Amino acid sequence: MDSLRRDSVDPAARDADRLAELFPMVVTEVIGADGRATRAIDFDQLRRRLGDYVVEGERERYRLDWPGKRRAQREAREPASGTLRPVRSESVNFDTTGNLFIEGDNLDVLRLLQEPYLGRIKLIYIDPPYNTGNDFIYDDDFSQTRAGYLTGSGQVGAGGVPLVANPEWGGRFHSNWLTMMYPRLALARNLLADDGVIFISIDDHEIDNLKKIGTEIFGEQNFVAQIIWQKVYAPKNSARWFSEDHDYILVFARNRERWQPRPLARTEAMEARYRNPDDDPRGPWKAENMSARNRYDAGVYPITTPSGRVIDGPPRGSYWRISRQRFDELDADGRIWWGADGDNVPAVKRFLSEVAAGRTPQTLWPYDEVGHTQDAKRALLRYVPFGNTANVLNSVKPVELVRRILQLAGDPGDGDIVLDFFSGSGTTAHAVLEQNLADGGNRRFIGVQIPEPLPVAEAGLASIFEIGLTRVRNVAAEIRARHPGAALDLGFRVLRWDTSGLADARVPPDTLDQAGLAAQTDRIRPGRTGEDLLLQVQLDWGLDPATPITVATADGREILVAGELVACFAATISPGVVRAVAERRPRWAVFRDSAFAGDADRINAGQVFAEVSPATDVKVL
Ligand SMILES: C[S@@+](CC[C@H](N)C(=O)[O-])C[C@H]1O[C@@H](n2cnc3c(N)ncnc32)[C@H](O)[C@@H]1O
Repeated sequence: MDSLRRDSVDPAARDADRLAELFPMVVTEVIGADGRATRAIDFDQLRRRLGDYVVEGERERYRLDWPGKRRAQREAREPASGTLRPVRSESVNFDTTGNLFIEGDNLDVLRLLQEPYLGRIKLIYIDPPYNTGNDFIYDDDFSQTRAGYLTGSGQVGAGGVPLVANPEWGGRFHSNWLTMMYPRLALARNLLADDGVIFISIDDHEIDNLKKIGTEIFGEQNFVAQIIWQKVYAPKNSARWFSEDHDYILVFARNRERWQPRPLARTEAMEARYRNPDDDPRGPWKAENMSARNRYDAGVYPITTPSGRVIDGPPRGSYWRISRQRFDELDADGRIWWGADGDNVPAVKRFLSEVAAGRTPQTLWPYDEVGHTQDAKRALLRYVPFGNTANVLNSVKPVELVRRILQLAGDPGDGDIVLDFFSGSGTTAHAVLEQNLADGGNRRFIGVQIPEPLPVAEAGLASIFEIGLTRVRNVAAEIRARHPGAALDLGFRVLRWDTSGLADARVPPDTLDQAGLAAQTDRIRPGRTGEDLLLQVQLDWGLDPATPITVATADGREILVAGELVACFAATISPGVVRAVAERRPRWAVFRDSAFAGDADRINAGQVFAEVSPATDVKVL
């Protein structure tokens, strides 16, 4: 029986695998620091392969650089540390839901999600801090301090959140923000499915930089659009220069050739533009201008109207959009509109029955379609009973805005996973529930939010993370009350980042006290429950941490079943328990190493599996 490894797969190792597949001749072996032979990439060989396509050293090239970029790139390749622990008491429908709310720094969490969700996320929407100088950004330099805090106290508290102000006069205004964003976007890209897409809210402070790092990470060929969202309802007359009326939303596809937005449903106003003044049996139609500015050499000819008036040609500087021959064909088919008196400049009749089912999305999103900031706040206030105005998030986005994104991306009935790793007050989760209700979809959400403390302490709401939980809990309850029979997943499983459930094997035993030594023998940190350990195993093996869990017992010990994984983390184990687990014929089985009295018991357990369920991969913690 093998031991479960502690850290998740190293992203650098994954990149090396990709290189090895493309260029097998650059793979070699070296002796590592531990004296063992290990695989390596022969960079000199690779450079020779790439010939003139390599740029190195001082040579000028086009790129965005900032102090901290190397660190940011390193952060993107660091393997995961820590784990996620389930919090049943704060979850809703813990055992059955496919939705996750994760409390923690999104860099830690994104690293942990690499294995289970690699290439599986269809849509990411994020609304990161805009770097206005007034918002806080996460300082990754503090991660060590926080790890120490967590180990000491066993929980994340307001004091453990390493958010720092990033004032414009701080000297590293853009650099700090870029260093924060870069690794998170790089890790997010790994999670996107090949036909997945990311939408990112931003404003003028960082739009240029965001577009540049987005282009670097996702590839210029995968840039899709820069949307303008009209966010304010009324202009700010107090503005010194201009009233800022809009934000941006940048859209990058993982692979633009594989992603396309779904057409939007036509609005009533749009449908109303189709009429039928000539009682055409083909139904309502809309008159479309026949001239356009694009040069079209066959589009210059005179036309005689039914009333006998001669039109010399298209208006100066434009061309008819169709050739003479095509025009005559359409006219013969009753598809040209000359006006009620037969004297108008001709227009082509576009029939409602013949246009595509929906409308092509545009890059300008007005508030009357997707809401404005006041709508956003109203929705938040409706579901969260704030005691203090200062705690109402200013950056909250309208539910309709995120619903528009959900309508464009992915397939409602495909069980798509929608990720928001700057989830704030939980607008994305709220929008997923509402959109699933509206179109019968079964999208799942994953929200990630650091427990940023509120500006003013408030009973019942310790952090922004808790605002999100309260909001979505209340939204779900309201939907359930309005639609008691609807088959909707209105629950969420709460997970919290924490240090690994396995003691650090690298700590030399002689530096530990007696309790520490006992923990080392067991490898499992005191206080971890079976569900904690199950979740850690799921993350390490790349299994979905939202898989429903059922609990059984055998010989008085708890057995946890999560899909094809069966685990027993009881402190002692009996042959009956081993057999009960094996008889479930799981794909994976896990036990606590220290539960076996000795090597003989381990060998016996191995034999039981060989006999009852030889295909099971059996491991110990
Ligand atoms: C602009 S707000 C998002 C608002 C959200 N769209 C809404 O409608 O409520 C950005 C959020 O990201 C959170 N945040 C900042 N750094 C983070 C980090 N490293 N990990 C997780 N969350 C973070 C902040 O606490 C803040 O709540």
